[in-house]
Amino acid sequence: MLRTHTCGELRLDDVNKNVTLSGWVHKVRDKGGMIWVDLRDRYGVTQLAFDESKTAKEIIDIVRSLGREFVIRTSGSVLERYSKNDKIQTGDIEIEVSEIEILNASNVPPFTIEDNTDGGDELRMKYRYLDIRRNPVRKNLELRHKMLQQTRNYLDLKNFMEIETPFLIKSTPEGARDFIVPSRVNQGEFYALPQSPQTFKQLLMVSGIDRYFQIVKCFRDEDLRADRQPEFTQIDCEMSFIDREDILNTFEGLTVHLFDKVMGYKLENVERMTYDHAMKNYGNDKPDTRFEMLFVELNDVAKGKGFKVFDDSELVVGICAAGCAHYSRKQLYALTDYVRKPQIGAKGLVYVKCNEDGTFKSSVDKFYNQEDLKKWTDKMNANPGDLLLILSGVTDQIRGALSELRLKIGEDLGLKNKDEFKALWVLDFPLLEWDEDSQRFHAMHHPFTSPKPDDLEKLSSDPGSVKANAYDLVINGVEIGGGSIRIHNKELQQQMFKALGFTDDEAKKQFGFLMDAFEYGAPPHGGIAFGFDRLCAMFGGSDSIRDYIAFPKNNSGRDVMIDSPSTISKEQLDELGLDLKD
Ligand code: AMO
Repeated sequence: MLRTHTCGELRLDDVNKNVTLSGWVHKVRDKGGMIWVDLRDRYGVTQLAFDESKTAKEIIDIVRSLGREFVIRTSGSVLERYSKNDKIQTGDIEIEVSEIEILNASNVPPFTIEDNTDGGDELRMKYRYLDIRRNPVRKNLELRHKMLQQTRNYLDLKNFMEIETPFLIKSTPEGARDFIVPSRVNQGEFYALPQSPQTFKQLLMVSGIDRYFQIVKCFRDEDLRADRQPEFTQIDCEMSFIDREDILNTFEGLTVHLFDKVMGYKLENVERMTYDHAMKNYGNDKPDTRFEMLFVELNDVAKGKGFKVFDDSELVVGICAAGCAHYSRKQLYALTDYVRKPQIGAKGLVYVKCNEDGTFKSSVDKFYNQEDLKKWTDKMNANPGDLLLILSGVTDQIRGALSELRLKIGEDLGLKNKDEFKALWVLDFPLLEWDEDSQRFHAMHHPFTSPKPDDLEKLSSDPGSVKANAYDLVINGVEIGGGSIRIHNKELQQQMFKALGFTDDEAKKQFGFLMDAFEYGAPPHGGIAFGFDRLCAMFGGSDSIRDYIAFPKNNSGRDVMIDSPSTISKEQLDELGLDLKD
């Protein structure tokens, strides 16, 4: 028998039992007469004790030959320890060993298998199988496992059916870039890996499945960030005979369930906000609502006083940083540098300090007197001691820049409480967004999203103003999920493709199968997909989804452990009919 117990299991109640344990050698402490070995497995660490005066020489010889991460099997009796260790669960006992066997030796690991390891990121990724032996990484995977089980429990109880959809599908021009798979049997033709199972789940609604879900890998060839991987996992769902309200309630329910069952956290009611409101007040369609610091537009009080920067701007808009009037010149310079960074893109920053004596000190005192500044501070509900930070420029761009500044100040002031979760639905997104490069509209979510019924008429006359029956779930400023009520009517779907600049032929070639299906009794339907890795990272308190994926890709999309992507042989290329020019 290889083990009777795990390394995390034995307690004082087990004293005098004969047990067999197997695991990895975590540490050996050789004090001459006494040797202690910490034996580790997924469940914990148990101390093995060897007294040179009592233990057989063969056993001592084996113990002295052990290296870190050797795999051993050992038997002995459980003893109460003299000096207990309250840091580990098995800290009251140790094993007096009577048998030991090396099951496998190990090279010295390239980094220590400790909670705080000495291994850098790349090294840990190369030896990810060793990294997963470390508690923090294993705990993240345990969290992910719990989330998977609880998601399935909830959706199963709500009558959702888990159905797998294919991975080898067809390339479509919308959304991110596809990962392409060449076909050997059909030379010169290619599959694409799905960016999401969107069209398949809609087809399942036509099939009468009514409530579908899948915890599914999706593939997108896009630039990587902390919250993006080229392959990632969605909780993908679709429902028939529902309206928006049904979807919001069902998936608010899933979110509350997960917070409760996995974290023991009672999520308060999920707020709702329109896209327009979010953009105007937070400059962002995924606002972090753990703190306020709302935008205040100042055009009416800031323009027309001879300050050309403001006069020439489409929008003058500011935030009030409570209690920050004491910021030094150096701190204000640093904030100005921050907003000027190319990725933020503001030209400069105007500040107003609200002094304790009721006077104001601003960076634009030359243009605005105390009375002018009072109007600003009144509008912004500022109090003595507060600091106003104001940007100006083209509306969309400057809202984006102020949003970044708001998040930075929120971080600096400690307003982003890690233990608090604020969820909200962002509703009524624009259906389309104009793309300057291609000079045409793109679907903001995807081309299957239905317009709001009241806006239908504008689809041909003023497409840019049409709102979508779409929603995003945002938690603490992270887009966790998104979805929509779908188009289920062939004519409307055709109209939508037209608005996106498809010819009838192109639309038929790309999505004819879906439009054909709509002619065989497609029910009204809608759905949503959650970014599962992001949800896990949020629950685990991390910004990086990599920590919650067993075998992630690095920032350049490489798996450094298996060394992929890699070249393939000339024979493989020939077989696929791929003629690579050098
Ligand atoms: P969407 O494209 O918004 O919607 O994706 C849904 C959610 O998936 C997560 N996500 C990602 N997570 C990690 N890495 C990525 N590269 C990545 N891209 C997206 C986000 C996002 O909110 N089919 C539609 C859903 C629907 O309409 O039902 C879709 O895929 O958390």
